[in-house]
Amino acid sequence: MAQQVRGVVAPGKGEPVRIETITIPDPGPGEAVVDVQACGVCHTDLHYREGGINNEFPFLLGHEAAGVVESVGAGVTEVEPGDFVVLNWRAVCGQCRACLRGRPWYCFDTHNAKQKMTLADGTELSPALGIGAFADKTLVAAGQCTKVDPAAKPEVAGLLGCGVMAGLGAAINTGNVGRGDSVAVIGCGGVGAASVLGARLAGAAKIIAIDLDERKLATATSLGATHTINAKDADVVESVRELTGGFGADVVIEAVGRPETYEQAFYARDLAGTVVLVGVPTPEMKLELPLLDVFGRGGALKSSWYGDCLPSRDFPMLIDLYLQGRLDLDAFVTETIGIGDVEAAFEKMHHGDVLRSVVTL
Ligand SMILES: NC(=O)c1ccc[n+]([C@@H]2O[C@H](COP(=O)([O-])OP(=O)(O)OC[C@H]3O[C@@H](n4cnc5c(N)ncnc54)[C@H](O)[C@@H]3O)[C@@H](O)[C@H]2O)c1
Ligand SMILES: [Zn+2]
Ligand SMILES: [Zn+2]
Repeated sequence: MAQQVRGVVAPGKGEPVRIETITIPDPGPGEAVVDVQACGVCHTDLHYREGGINNEFPFLLGHEAAGVVESVGAGVTEVEPGDFVVLNWRAVCGQCRACLRGRPWYCFDTHNAKQKMTLADGTELSPALGIGAFADKTLVAAGQCTKVDPAAKPEVAGLLGCGVMAGLGAAINTGNVGRGDSVAVIGCGGVGAASVLGARLAGAAKIIAIDLDERKLATATSLGATHTINAKDADVVESVRELTGGFGADVVIEAVGRPETYEQAFYARDLAGTVVLVGVPTPEMKLELPLLDVFGRGGALKSSWYGDCLPSRDFPMLIDLYLQGRLDLDAFVTETIGIGDVEAAFEKMHHGDVLRSVVTL
């Protein structure tokens, strides 16, 4: 029997979100209905609301979520009702050219539920990143559910569903940070702060946090940054070089998504070092660099999609480390809010007041 629940819907370009009654179909083959317990507010939700992703309104927002599997459809073997899961937007297909080459964290053909959730009048909803979890319940592909230890609080576990995983993974997966490395992180919002934490977890010896906002630098320090630079009143490239014996950092993570900060990352890196771009630029942005410098400085220029994570490998491991007290994920939950507070959370995000507001359901 299809169910009716509450959901946060973006009705049209730039319009404020509304709580609507939405219809959740029973799970079909390969699908699962999840009773959502917590869902973080991410910039991407705001981008959807503003029409910055595509025009397929109305959207059902929310995608950084954890909850309990309520029911599964035919043929589902990976999860069962009662499992505590983190939702992911990388349900790997196992058959695309990336998967077949043994690189499922790049999967080029990830899947979502085939059936549609709808408004009461039957209008089909587009769930954000194929998830749509600012809702009491949501319908996803079973592969989007990753089982983790239920001892973790849902508002913390759900963070791995997007921004925090992106930041942690930019350091530990894409950047391949190793023991003793020097790492610089440009932009220490939710994503960059997670990169700082990831660099610490990987054993970096020097972790330089860079931001324009002293509050973000203070959080980064509490998460393991050994040095901070306020980009408002310092030359970022010069300052990183000074802190690294004149050479630059082994790995520089760009978590802003702008050409000028990318250029800083490019030059703040040691010879043969790595730049990781995890910040997402907008279509009109352009980058100009002397090709001779691209050659002459060597190393690797990489982009990180969702932290190059493999949910089945990374989510349970990171939750275990969290439960052992070795990964401070609590620091990312600035506040828990109700389902009616998403607009207010967008406003706080805009002013840089929060790392994450998390809706609890
Ligand atoms: N690659 C992925 O898979 C992925 C996933 C999630 C988010 N993201 C992207 O990561 C980026 C960061 O997301 P977030 O949630 O941390 O955003 P955020 O707004 O919380 O953080 C951005 C931070 O950058 C700082 N900043 C802005 N301009 C700066 C400058 N010139 N120099 C130094 N610092 C500067 C801001 O003060 C802020 O603290 C966004 O572009 C987001 O879209 C990427
Ligand atoms: Zn694939
Ligand atoms: Zn997100």
